[in-house]
Amino acid sequence: MGKRSTFSGKLGFILAAAGSAVGLGNLWRFPYLAAKYGGGMFLLVYILLAITFGSVLMITEIAIGRKTQLSPLKAFGALNKKWSWLGTLATIVPILIFPYYCLIGGWVTKYAAVMVSGKVSEAAGDSFFKSYISSTSQPIIWFLVFMAATTLVVVFGVNKGIEKFSKVLMPLLVFLTVGLSIYVVTRPGALAGVKYYLLPNIKDLSFKTFLAAIGQLFYSMSLAMGIMITYGSYFSKEESIEKASRHIEIFDTAIAFLAGLMIIPAVFVYSGGDKSALGTGPSLMFVTLPKVFSSMPGGNIIGALFFFLVLFAAVTSSVSILEAIVAGVMDRFNVKRITATLLVALYGTVLGIACSFGFGIWDSVKIIGFSILDFLDFVSNSIMLPLVGMLTCILVGFIIKPDAIISEIELNGKFTIKKFYIAMVKWIAPIFIFAILVSGILQNFGILNI
Ligand code: TRP
Repeated sequence: MGKRSTFSGKLGFILAAAGSAVGLGNLWRFPYLAAKYGGGMFLLVYILLAITFGSVLMITEIAIGRKTQLSPLKAFGALNKKWSWLGTLATIVPILIFPYYCLIGGWVTKYAAVMVSGKVSEAAGDSFFKSYISSTSQPIIWFLVFMAATTLVVVFGVNKGIEKFSKVLMPLLVFLTVGLSIYVVTRPGALAGVKYYLLPNIKDLSFKTFLAAIGQLFYSMSLAMGIMITYGSYFSKEESIEKASRHIEIFDTAIAFLAGLMIIPAVFVYSGGDKSALGTGPSLMFVTLPKVFSSMPGGNIIGALFFFLVLFAAVTSSVSILEAIVAGVMDRFNVKRITATLLVALYGTVLGIACSFGFGIWDSVKIIGFSILDFLDFVSNSIMLPLVGMLTCILVGFIIKPDAIISEIELNGKFTIKKFYIAMVKWIAPIFIFAILVSGILQNFGILNI
């Protein structure tokens, strides 16, 4: 195998990894979960999990990638022959996420188009979103647009070209999100929302909150699915894994936090006191933001710009999800890149259409009580991600031993949280993740009631 090219410098690595990590997970998924699972309590649990399990797993995956110089499918096998199945398990996650990620990407595309055509007040109407997603052909057309864009980028290998725009567009997105959250929190009535979002209330603490938070954490930071192993395999031996991990985490969490600060108080301001709107779920961002834009001067232009930037962040992520699957398929089945890409795109299209029908003509189709999209989301985020995360800790803690990872990290000086790392990876993380997984699932199905 040839030597892998490395990113130019630490900043290049952090920007690339963060660019792939920041996407709909931060902007679309985090706010609706935080709204649904008790605001402040969700935020608190999320941040606690991020600085413990999140950082341990981020460090571990980057180190595994840099140590083995391999893709996730092969990396686990290189660490221990008997554990190569964990690479397969990790690769299944992007396969489950890809179809519905692109469907949501299609929703974003539609909203960007609506804003550009100046129909912001129409989009702010109460039934606009519902009637859009429940119609048969409209959401599928926009989904196909998004899917085609993602596929074309991968087929022509132009993602490097697109990443160049990240340097301008990502900061612009951050800047706009800060501006919008300031606008929202200074509206009359927003204070109650800010309090709901920032102040934890003990009665909101439940296993479900933990399960939702841990799934979201891994999803948002692209952990427990092989992605950070791939990035790690390109990470320079000269740079500090510990520092780079911390930067990616802080950046990713900051964006999710801001998205919540922009959307959750807006629910209080614009829903006319209807708190049940907090439990809306996946539609929250699409229902709430147009109301914000239609209330502000120049809202049409700002709304168009905002949804365009979200679209950009979504495309960079969907491209990297597709890339990851394609790399896996090529590794495993020895097919050409173009064949692999088209097959995966075809699979994603079929399943994505099924997800979309789940909101309309197939809305009576339920899999263990979930709509098709919610089912894929639940299996990937609430089951697979915690499971792969837990197994990775067990592999490192007991099979290859923490020292194997620690020595990789110590190639660049001191590992400042070594003791903490060993305790976490061996005991605390696997035991807690297991407890969260089992109790959260039981509670989700109403079997456990506390
Ligand atoms: N982390 C991305 C986000 O927050 C989503 C994501 C999931 C992803 N799996 C991925 C991104 C794989 C890149 C590669 O939206």
